[in-house]
Amino acid sequence: MGVFTDGSHEQVVFCQDRASGLKAIIGIYSTALGPALGGTRFYPYASEEEALHDVLDLSRGMAYKNALAGLDLGGGKAVIWGDPEQIKSEQLLRAYGRFVQSLGGRYYTACDVGTYVQDMDIVARETQFVTGRSVEYGGAGDSSILTAWGVFQGMRAAAEHRWGAPSLKGKRVGVAGLGKVGKYLVAHLVEDGAEVVATDVSPKALEWAKASYPQVSLVADATALITSDIDVYAPCALGGALNDDTVPALRAQIVAGAANNQLAHTGIEKLLVDRGILYAPDYLVNSGGVIQVADEIDGFNFDRAKLRATKIYDTTKRILELADTEGISPAAAADRLAEQRMAEVGRLRTIRI
Ligand SMILES: NC(=O)c1ccc[n+]([C@@H]2O[C@H](COP(=O)([O-])OP(=O)(O)OC[C@H]3O[C@@H](n4cnc5c(N)ncnc54)[C@H](O)[C@@H]3O)[C@@H](O)[C@H]2O)c1
Repeated sequence: MGVFTDGSHEQVVFCQDRASGLKAIIGIYSTALGPALGGTRFYPYASEEEALHDVLDLSRGMAYKNALAGLDLGGGKAVIWGDPEQIKSEQLLRAYGRFVQSLGGRYYTACDVGTYVQDMDIVARETQFVTGRSVEYGGAGDSSILTAWGVFQGMRAAAEHRWGAPSLKGKRVGVAGLGKVGKYLVAHLVEDGAEVVATDVSPKALEWAKASYPQVSLVADATALITSDIDVYAPCALGGALNDDTVPALRAQIVAGAANNQLAHTGIEKLLVDRGILYAPDYLVNSGGVIQVADEIDGFNFDRAKLRATKIYDTTKRILELADTEGISPAAAADRLAEQRMAEVGRLRTIRI
């Protein structure tokens, strides 16, 4: 994917500050619905090309996610190329903040892999176009709270679509990844009366599960989880969980989880349909986090943000129904609704005021 060959991004900005070692790329896919919002990934990419590829992909994904979440925000994302353990410093983050500021509000940043709320507090010393700040500075704090809440709402909608009731009561739900989101999700599921089976590669996460939820069954790995007798599969670790190996082996009837980019490649969504597995699109059900940080722009209000994240239930239902009536996959239905909103609402800006 290249900026011009792909032909879809509005703006891509390369930022360099030699003294601090900052090398960043900010990708703005679309501002049709408002300023582009998306986090900053700080990662030791193997090459500049790899960093560019990632920012183009991620910024496009944010445009679709924000559109479907009903936010008045476009899609963007940034990457900082380098090892955060080695080069992250006050001067680098502040230099980055100055580049964000120079875009005049076309792009709002937030946390992503390798960046944390404390980093955003530093970035905010140079720019007002930043979310994902700490509570002490009026920020939304830990976004995994509403991410998990949104995933739970998407799962309830999928359960209603498949089994007729918006509840996971009595169902066996397999959670892969007991990290920030997975932990909150387990709590919602247990409270709803689901039977939870889980796995994680981290012994610390497994210890947490044993101590906090002894009723949760733990299995060795993700393969053991997907081949066990589960009704719902919730990928909450890394991307690519749904691939040519896992989908044929999957026993669940529903997939709804927090992980980004669950479909390993194009075509997997059709494989899921062929196997009769109902897939609640990842960027729809995991949008609670961006809903939470986006709320900071108007002055953070948790109840208002939660209300918005609860609507993921309605949107998921709508998309699953659209997929049925149009004979398309839920992933295609989600893309269609997101594109429709970007076109219809974005068009209103052509009315001169
Ligand atoms: N945190 C958010 O607000 C948010 C928002 C949207 C999407 N997501 C996505 O949700 C996923 C989880 O996010 P998180 O914030 O909980 O991350 P996290 O790093 O806190 O948790 C991930 C967990 O998955 C475990 N894990 C890694 N590889 C595994 C494997 N092969 N099998 C089983 N477990 C494995 C890790 O040990 C860790 O406990 C990520 O894909 C993330 O991009 C998170």
